[in-house]
Amino acid sequence: MKKEDVTETQEEVFFPSPEIVEKALVKDYETLYRKSIENREQFWADEADKLDWFRKWDKVLDDSNKPFYQWYTGGKFNIVANAVDRHVKTWRRNKLALVWEGEPGDTKTYSYHALNREVCKFATVLKSMGVKKGEIVTIYMPQIPELPIAMLACAKLGAAHSVVYGGFSVEALATRIRDANSRVVITADGGYRRGKVVDLKGIVNEALIGAPTVEVCITIRRTGHAVAMESDRDFWFHDLMGLPIATTSCETEVMDAEDPLFILYTSGTTGQPKGLVHTHAGYAVYAATTLQYVFDLREEDRYWCTADPGWITGHSYLVYGPLLLGSTIMMYEGAPNHPYPNRWWQMIEKYGVTILYTSPTGIRGLMRFGEQWPKRHNLSWLRLLGSVGEPINPEAWRWYHRVIGGGRCPIMDTWWQTETGGFVITPLPITPLKPGSATRPFFGHEIAIVDDDGKELPVGQEGNLVLKAPWPGMARTIHGDPDRFKQTYWRQYEKQGWYKAGDSARKDKDGYFWVIGRTDDVIKVSGHRLGTAEIESALVSHPDVAEAAVIGLPHEVKGQAIYCFVILKHGKSGSKELEDKLKIHMDHQLGAIARPEKIDFLDTLPKTRSGKIMRRVLKARALGQDVGDISTLEE
Ligand code: WT7
Repeated sequence: MKKEDVTETQEEVFFPSPEIVEKALVKDYETLYRKSIENREQFWADEADKLDWFRKWDKVLDDSNKPFYQWYTGGKFNIVANAVDRHVKTWRRNKLALVWEGEPGDTKTYSYHALNREVCKFATVLKSMGVKKGEIVTIYMPQIPELPIAMLACAKLGAAHSVVYGGFSVEALATRIRDANSRVVITADGGYRRGKVVDLKGIVNEALIGAPTVEVCITIRRTGHAVAMESDRDFWFHDLMGLPIATTSCETEVMDAEDPLFILYTSGTTGQPKGLVHTHAGYAVYAATTLQYVFDLREEDRYWCTADPGWITGHSYLVYGPLLLGSTIMMYEGAPNHPYPNRWWQMIEKYGVTILYTSPTGIRGLMRFGEQWPKRHNLSWLRLLGSVGEPINPEAWRWYHRVIGGGRCPIMDTWWQTETGGFVITPLPITPLKPGSATRPFFGHEIAIVDDDGKELPVGQEGNLVLKAPWPGMARTIHGDPDRFKQTYWRQYEKQGWYKAGDSARKDKDGYFWVIGRTDDVIKVSGHRLGTAEIESALVSHPDVAEAAVIGLPHEVKGQAIYCFVILKHGKSGSKELEDKLKIHMDHQLGAIARPEKIDFLDTLPKTRSGKIMRRVLKARALGQDVGDISTLEE
């Protein structure tokens, strides 16, 4: 799009400054995009060539068993050889890999040398516990340096990790440990959040009652509060790291390109979370390539992604992506407004952060305290901003751009999913920006808005977002359930071979995409993906609850908030006390992130004649809108 095209349309468009264009890695999106589409495999071979391989691939893309695509087959690779090992062989050994600040204000820094040392030591410890290629280790930790260290140590040995977000609680954790069949769990005694200790080890202990496969639990001491340790099963991390077996060198396992690197659970339409599988090579190539082009990382950057490693954003753009590129990562343990709403801005100033990647929720949450908080700080090191997790409302976009970015930093609004492994629709620093649009497809992607039959919809019309071609970072399957993988993402457009994202979106006349939201029963609470079915089953597990229906309603800060409708068992009656009790029950089952905004007690739920709850009717009613076509509603 050119400036001249815009004036007559009165659209709000932000053009990059000449300095940004001059220094940009990619100055011409169109040409490189066309090249990447005309010869997709060549594009992805060139990008893969930038990483170190034990053995180069035979084939870039193997599509002989669709939709189970394979990338770089025949190649031998390990992500850790690229994220750590190769840097310690260069001057980067002395570069900061990680700058960390805990919520209470304690700090730690690791050079690449130190990171490698800790990863090697922990890998040898895990090895001594029998951890090996092919198994899945569950990690449940606060945002402390030992979290990325644990991930890298597993990957180094060829074991897949399954990181469970520390905001999840007992039942959610137990379900995920069981599904992964983990023998080893890595955790911490606790973490700090808003000045309080979160008792992670206590939650693990309870979860392990329902997860009998676990033989070993390694606990990092973070908060020092009293926790119950079971002999023969529980070990303190620091004791193990002090043993002579914990050595500072450890061989990095040679993996097949397609060997799993990690499993990450995410919510879908049913109550059972999906363990999406990502691989060593394709995922690494994709995370590094997308991060390099979009955030244009430079040697001198200090890059801060505020996401928790428990989500895909943390995996790809806090841990693996930046380490693959040899950057300096900033990481923070706690709440953005603790002890005051200037905490983030203070850290940006203190550490000289140059790139900030966060969520619309994060921005809205801090925006409500007013601009006097960021105004107290010198944020002039910032040169690029990013947003992810849900559509960003233009008001938050403008505030972020003006107040945090000083009007000079472009905002990379990146659309992607746990399933995609990395950015899919995203600007580059040179892209003219429209607040609220994630703009254009990343290289190698062909994206369309189609109706339910796959017919492409005209400009401006809302429809299903589909990705027409495979990419190296795509999830390979759902752990233990390949049929569900096919069914969920590939069945509807099987004939065409397209990936269905589960999002509704439209495309404008400039080819910009505007993502509207999910088309399934997934809701986005503070950018966190939760399935209504998972929340409903947590509710129904309470002895007083007979039936439950959950919907997401708009919320000023969280984007969406959880509203529950509950039918109680015979003889029970709804009250404020019961509502509070149910909320506590939910905290225990799923975690505070799934805490409902409100619980309403009803006598009946709107259902179709076949017994399906019509959430859309509940939603329309709650919003005071027209309930639409209810001909299938049972009386
Ligand atoms: C869903 C995926 C990918 C990292 C975090 C979320 C929504 C994500 C955007 C954006 C509009 C967005 C979509 C998507 N989403 N980023 N920039 N604009 N919507 O990963 O938990 O797997 O959720 O988040 O609805 O499908 P996730």
